[in-house]
Amino acid sequence: MLGTRITDNEFHAALRQAERGTRWLDIDADAMRAQYNRAGFLVRHRLAEHPLFTADALFRLARRMPASAVKHRLGSVPGNTHFDSSIERFRGGLTLDDALDHLVEKRAYVALYNPEKDPEYGPAIQGFLAEIGLAARPFERFFNWYSTYVFISAHDAVTPYHMDREMNFLLQIAGRKTVQLWDPRDDIVMRPEQRDHLFSFDADARPAWHDGLPARARVFELEPGLGVHHPFIAPHLVTTGQNFSISLAITYRTPGSDVMSDAHAFNDRLRPYGLGRIPVGSHPAVDIAKACAMRGLRAARQALHRVRRHAKDGGAPAPDRS
Ligand SMILES: [Fe+2]
Repeated sequence: MLGTRITDNEFHAALRQAERGTRWLDIDADAMRAQYNRAGFLVRHRLAEHPLFTADALFRLARRMPASAVKHRLGSVPGNTHFDSSIERFRGGLTLDDALDHLVEKRAYVALYNPEKDPEYGPAIQGFLAEIGLAARPFERFFNWYSTYVFISAHDAVTPYHMDREMNFLLQIAGRKTVQLWDPRDDIVMRPEQRDHLFSFDADARPAWHDGLPARARVFELEPGLGVHHPFIAPHLVTTGQNFSISLAITYRTPGSDVMSDAHAFNDRLRPYGLGRIPVGSHPAVDIAKACAMRGLRAARQALHRVRRHAKDGGAPAPDRS
């Protein structure tokens, strides 16, 4: 899995450090109280002043990262195209060197996956995450996982309509971006069973674009120094403006979002058996019970898999490391 797990203790140690350190993000406490994890809202930041987030520094990072962590394609793709296959489908014969050396002329899009794994960038990005953690402290016990992405794209690039399985703060560092964001709890945007199926991880797991969406979008215009919060699984479609664009997405999960994820997975898995009809989010106690059941099912399946594998190998059952 992409990203990094973090413990309660590690998270709180990072918060204590962030309280003493330089602040790069300015997240309004009133906006957090009113909208955090329910609706998108703008935040402010100073990442354009950070020496690691200049275009030159980020291109150097892209060239030293493992090639498998640097994805590239043509920037201009249809907004309603299938998100998960868009990198392969719209490569257009472009090599990674071409995309990095001639990004603007080739109208390329480059995504750096998990720059936090770079020793130079890790501490800075963990500091930004901790600043989000400080802002979210009244609402979240702790963050237990995070994964970040740098997007570098030429003018008129498009990130097709999709939704992710976590929360996000998307921070614009250079150029402009238009972010269309949808309410994940709006049944016209995604039906309850579509929200559940997102957690199946099938190839068709993410609900596709449909004609009812444009009228229901909220639009956020980003420029350097602005960012937008994405609630859990909020659908989005992003286009860059007339100039080269750089942004950083800081995505994360919490024990609370894990309950939602597992409750959705329970509904998706057990709907054929007449269970899982109560939409996730309508009864918190039911969501917790479903998440516990789903985790029990998963543990049982893993144990069974271990026993079968060792029986096939002719050995004794392996010790339980779960
Ligand atoms: Fe996304």
